[in-house]
Amino acid sequence: MKKELIDKVFSFKGSKQPGILQLRKQLIRERLPGHVAVIMDGNGRWAQAKGLPRVFGHRAGMEALQEVVRLCVDLGIKVLTVYAFSTENWKRPQEEIGILMNLLYEYVQKELDELDRQNVCIRVIGHIQELPFRARHELDRSRASTANNDGLILNIALNYGGRMEIVDAARSLAAKVRDGALEPEAIDETMFEQHLYTAGIPDPDLLIRPAGDFRISNFLLWQIAYTEFWNTNAYWPDFKDHVHFLSALVAFQKRERRYGGLL
Ligand code: IPE
Ligand code: IPE
Ligand code: MG
Repeated sequence: MKKELIDKVFSFKGSKQPGILQLRKQLIRERLPGHVAVIMDGNGRWAQAKGLPRVFGHRAGMEALQEVVRLCVDLGIKVLTVYAFSTENWKRPQEEIGILMNLLYEYVQKELDELDRQNVCIRVIGHIQELPFRARHELDRSRASTANNDGLILNIALNYGGRMEIVDAARSLAAKVRDGALEPEAIDETMFEQHLYTAGIPDPDLLIRPAGDFRISNFLLWQIAYTEFWNTNAYWPDFKDHVHFLSALVAFQKRERRYGGLL
């Protein structure tokens, strides 16, 4: 592989990148984000840049997820929401979808004991009922067996769409009004939030998007009203080394959050 390509793919190895220890030293525990959301993007391009089929990127992406979960547990972050499959990703070739679902099933099956040991509580948001049986079954099993864990909440967005989530919330509120259980005037932001898939989980403090695109791609539309964004050209599989995730945390700690007010 050409040197420039290696440098590009593993950009953290460039001399300008601060080391992991240095980054960790910069972290202020009290200023860590409580909830980090990640759009796990760039798997395909990561593989293609190495002359490999896209599927290798998805596998490497799973390994990055494993590492980032470990790091979050280690740092005491409360919630990690990861975008694994969107409602629009069904537009991809059937073969790629099948491979993605298998990888997911494999990841949950392989990692479940370890996640449980790490006191991780697995949650899933999205239309799980439309997933293949095996993936659905594994997810249900992992949710049930980690439900009482009170460490990191690993919230997996699967067959998830932000617009669909808002429509679902509106539907369940409308049904309550129809049944006479709710007055329309009683609907406020707090109640609306309680009808989202993320009910009970605070909004993300930090949203990370790898792979260089500056868009939301239908992720957590309601919840990101005041979330801090962090973007990088590095691809999601590159996050395996902690450097990019730690860099995002360090950058987040320097942000001034005003929520429309003044400091
Ligand atoms: C993210 O990587 C994984 C999913 C969307 C399921 P991509 O597959 O979108 O990778 P790129 O964006 O084509 O590089
Ligand atoms: C967003 O990535 C969805 C996931 C990472 C699961 P996409 O690759 O689907 O986003 P677009 O198509 O570039 O907006
Ligand atoms: Mg993509």
